[in-house]
Amino acid sequence: MDPQKPAIQRIAVIRGDGIGQEVIPQAVKAIQAAGAAVELTEFDWGADRYLRDGITVPPEGFAMLARDFDAILIGAFGDPRVKTNIHAKEILLGLRFKMDLYANLRPVRLLDEALCPLKGVEPSDLDLVVLRENTEGVYTDAGGVFKPGTPDEIATQEDINTRKGVERIIRYAFEYCREHHKLDGSPRSKVLMCDKSNAMTHAGGLWQRVFKEVSAEYPQITAQHMYVDALCMHMVRDPRQFDVIVTNNMFGDIITDLAAGLQGGLGMAASGNIHPGKTSMFEPVHGSAPPIAGKNLANPFGAILAAAMMLRHMGLTAEADRIEAAVLEAVRQKKTTQDIGGPLGTREAGEWVADRVAGEKER
Ligand code: NAD
Ligand code: IPM
Ligand code: MN
Repeated sequence: MDPQKPAIQRIAVIRGDGIGQEVIPQAVKAIQAAGAAVELTEFDWGADRYLRDGITVPPEGFAMLARDFDAILIGAFGDPRVKTNIHAKEILLGLRFKMDLYANLRPVRLLDEALCPLKGVEPSDLDLVVLRENTEGVYTDAGGVFKPGTPDEIATQEDINTRKGVERIIRYAFEYCREHHKLDGSPRSKVLMCDKSNAMTHAGGLWQRVFKEVSAEYPQITAQHMYVDALCMHMVRDPRQFDVIVTNNMFGDIITDLAAGLQGGLGMAASGNIHPGKTSMFEPVHGSAPPIAGKNLANPFGAILAAAMMLRHMGLTAEADRIEAAVLEAVRQKKTTQDIGGPLGTREAGEWVADRVAGEKER
């Protein structure tokens, strides 16, 4: 056991809105079924709370999470009743920005050939990771509106790229490539930087320069570049070519929804928001999906796989392995929700996985 780590680690759980309310309890069940040495504490941050008392993040909320918890598991934020989306901005983007969780790690893995809409793509063909810069870019809220509501209205949204921010995410991508293997055991070997430096020359120029400098420190790793538009085309035509992709906040957002489509849809995609050494946050890639919320339709596997990522990050490797193996088996046996072709509801799919994790299903 790591002497630095307490015997029981603490996890903050925030279900959030819409299907977050449904998928997170299934992720919690999997964690409990694995017998992980963790203590879970729920917080009610989200649209209901905001509509009730006007509070998005309670005072000192982020400081409390950083101080009192080893990791955070969240669902999704977004509710049609909150037109401004202010609570999502303050909670979700607050967690990422104010806790400085600069590396948004989004693995893209195909668990079963049947889940991929492309012809002839097998699980071994789709095992890439996207490292999305998570604390700057067009998400910083820099900008404003001048003469709103008039014919002369001007809206600006600044794209902020700092030398420090660009360098740390690019370095993280190379370190990740060096330290991780693919699921089939083969080493990772390529880092591809994705930008739009042909049109956005100021920010793109910084990314280009930093990528060149940092990649020179990793001669054993192949450094590649692609413009984001071309990358979208190649991702659909031949996803086999990708290994580790590093990109800015907005491009990372977009290409990970595209990539989720190749994994079987948003219900299958998990992510980590990481700052090494700090309390990090884990979540499914999907949103609150209002049209299917409250209907026991949402696929809980993205949330369950995010929980497994979190446990792995916390050093609870055996528990993470068991949860991931149970999800893989559920997919193989079609014990899944309808979006990926199974007959089960959110609860039933989650319970099947939890039972399997607990060793109660036949092996
Ligand atoms: P969404 O991810 O909620 O849904 C996109 C599509 O995928 C919908 O067709 C939905 O039904 C489907 N889908 C998503 N998750 C699914 C699951 N687990 N199982 C089955 N199907 C699933 O994105 P959207 O519709 O663009 O946004 C809805 C709300 O969620 C908005 O308020 C948006 O801002 C918010 N959002 C939040 C997050 C987050 O909190 N991390 C992420 C994305 C979107
Ligand atoms: C995601 C989401 C968020 C983002 C939204 C809800 C702000 O789409 O986590 O991918 O753009 O980062
Ligand atoms: Mn997104």
